[in-house]
Amino acid sequence: MKRPRVFVTRLIPGEGLAAVRAHCQADIWPGELPPPRQEILQRVAGVDGILSLLTDSIDGAVMDAAGPRLKVISNYAVGFDNVHIAQATARGIPVGNTPGVLTDTTADFAFALLMAAARRVADGDRFTRAGRWKTWGPMLLLGQDITGATLGLIGFGRIGQGMARRAQGFDMKVLYHDPDRQDDRFGARAVDLDSLLRRSDFVSLHVPLTTETHHLVNANALSRMKPTAILINTARGGVVDSEALYHALKTDQIAGAALDVTEPEPIPADHPLLELDNVIIAPHMASASVATRGKMARMAAANLIAGLEGERLPHCVNPQVYAETP
Ligand code: GLV
Ligand code: GLV
Repeated sequence: MKRPRVFVTRLIPGEGLAAVRAHCQADIWPGELPPPRQEILQRVAGVDGILSLLTDSIDGAVMDAAGPRLKVISNYAVGFDNVHIAQATARGIPVGNTPGVLTDTTADFAFALLMAAARRVADGDRFTRAGRWKTWGPMLLLGQDITGATLGLIGFGRIGQGMARRAQGFDMKVLYHDPDRQDDRFGARAVDLDSLLRRSDFVSLHVPLTTETHHLVNANALSRMKPTAILINTARGGVVDSEALYHALKTDQIAGAALDVTEPEPIPADHPLLELDNVIIAPHMASASVATRGKMARMAAANLIAGLEGERLPHCVNPQVYAETP
């Protein structure tokens, strides 16, 4: 039997790629940068499966360009806002993602950003490198305490709960807001969004990007935060209105921000946010550990291969496609 044809939009760690190569006739985009839109549209023609990254927009046009053989879209990420799920479901195509394996790695990084912003780690490094360290100073680079502070989690899924567990070790008070969850765990308490914003010293975002969460943190939300508060975003850039955030940071309406994701992404080098000292910006690297990226690759390959074989994906974001099959 002919091996199924797949398009893989970037090189992913070998443990996943080996399985894909063994199973499929794989066209793997070799570039460091994502394939341009036109390349995607051409290369998917006639494929049985697509293994995509969060940098690739996989919409109805791409699915149509692939054609009727397309059986599976496997996204190498837990987030899947880059894939038009409704369009995939309408075509009966299951979409896979990589939840669970990156939860702790991502929560570790979100907590690292929280600590770095609170204690001005990046500021201190810049200060030293600029040759400005002349003496120990009683008032030099003062930050905010983490121990005993209040952490507000917007979104209390796997990663949000991972933050709550970490916060317990720092004796933090943890509040969360999540319309889908009311079961308090890891010492966290459900509150409405307004009291979370007003009471938290750190506000950390752990929601997927949807029409409901787009610009959830806008000028109005920022105006309700404490002037000493720090915003942490490891979710998706689009959850925060960047212009409103710039204004809030510039006018000291809030004390700081630490972002692993931005809108647009990547953030242009001349973006106004990069002129500010009270923001840390990392290049979307929260799940970037050797072990975790390997596990994500294995999981993405397993989803892809299951879909090609007509089996249920181990991790499917639109299981409705199975309900429709008799
Ligand atoms: C990374 O942002 C992911 O969604 O896996
Ligand atoms: C992602 O894994 C989440 O549910 O937060």
